[in-house]
Amino acid sequence: MEGQVAMVTGAANGIGRAIVERFVAEGMQVVAVDISSADLTEATASYGDRVHAAVADISDRTQVQAAVHAALFRFGQIDVLAANAGIADGEPFLEIDDKSWRRIIDVNIHGTFHCVQEAAKVMARARKGAIVCTSSTNAWYVEKNLAHYNTSKGGVEALVRSAAIDLAEFNIRVNAIEPSMVKTRAAFITEDPVGGPEYLKRVPMARFAEPAEIAAAVAWLASGQSSYITGQTLILDGGLTLGIDMPLPAAPLPGSARADSDA
Ligand SMILES: NC(=O)c1ccc[n+]([C@@H]2O[C@H](COP(=O)([O-])OP(=O)(O)OC[C@H]3O[C@@H](n4cnc5c(N)ncnc54)[C@H](O)[C@@H]3O)[C@@H](O)[C@H]2O)c1
Repeated sequence: MEGQVAMVTGAANGIGRAIVERFVAEGMQVVAVDISSADLTEATASYGDRVHAAVADISDRTQVQAAVHAALFRFGQIDVLAANAGIADGEPFLEIDDKSWRRIIDVNIHGTFHCVQEAAKVMARARKGAIVCTSSTNAWYVEKNLAHYNTSKGGVEALVRSAAIDLAEFNIRVNAIEPSMVKTRAAFITEDPVGGPEYLKRVPMARFAEPAEIAAAVAWLASGQSSYITGQTLILDGGLTLGIDMPLPAAPLPGSARADSDA
């Protein structure tokens, strides 16, 4: 991926910050996009010329267009988009008001659409590109008190499949990653001394993901290593969604070889 240009949204914290670090390590130039100017300045300060910081709220198309123009002005192309920025909030279903619902849908679905479409316009001209959107296992393995967030990630995955089928003719691949619980400020449960260990009882690998582990999957889906993969979702959940825990039976079950040999 040496010499390629990537745009990364939500670049100032958590998973996005780890994606920027990974892309720079791969030899890429990066346009780091985030709504928080202060966080973005801090996150990108050490990279020098390799990273261009662009403050933008992805829910506003004109701000996304400005970030894309900045990328073109600075680096001349966009080969990769990591559409990662997203927000959540925990609220009981009956208490979610329109303002809260709309903000999450606005950022997570409309914002992701703005980024995918504006970056794809540039990629289509070059007839090549790779887009990786950050979804979540919440798209289908829903969690309580997160209806707006769960819904938004379901939308992101439909968007990814739709963009993948429409953009294939331009040699643009579009895929999603689905992390479950990653150690970032947004995943408050990872820092909860009681709720954290309780949550981990449901995770076969019995730990939370590191942001760098998510960034590694994004880098793979953005690279030529995954050149025939499009419209897919890669689950990164330490086994969380594989199934439910089951205790051993007290005795061999009827009809089994063990039961027959005991008879
Ligand atoms: N942390 C997890 O466990 C987890 C699990 C599954 C999916 N995700 C997804 O990963 C992505 C990143 O989450 P994170 O955990 O790193 O969160 P985070 O809060 O650590 O980082 C998110 C970044 O996005 C920025 N941002 C928020 N709204 C924005 C907007 N409107 N425009 C531009 N930037 C904006 C924030 O300023 C922040 O820097 C999100 O899409 C989230 O839904 C996270």
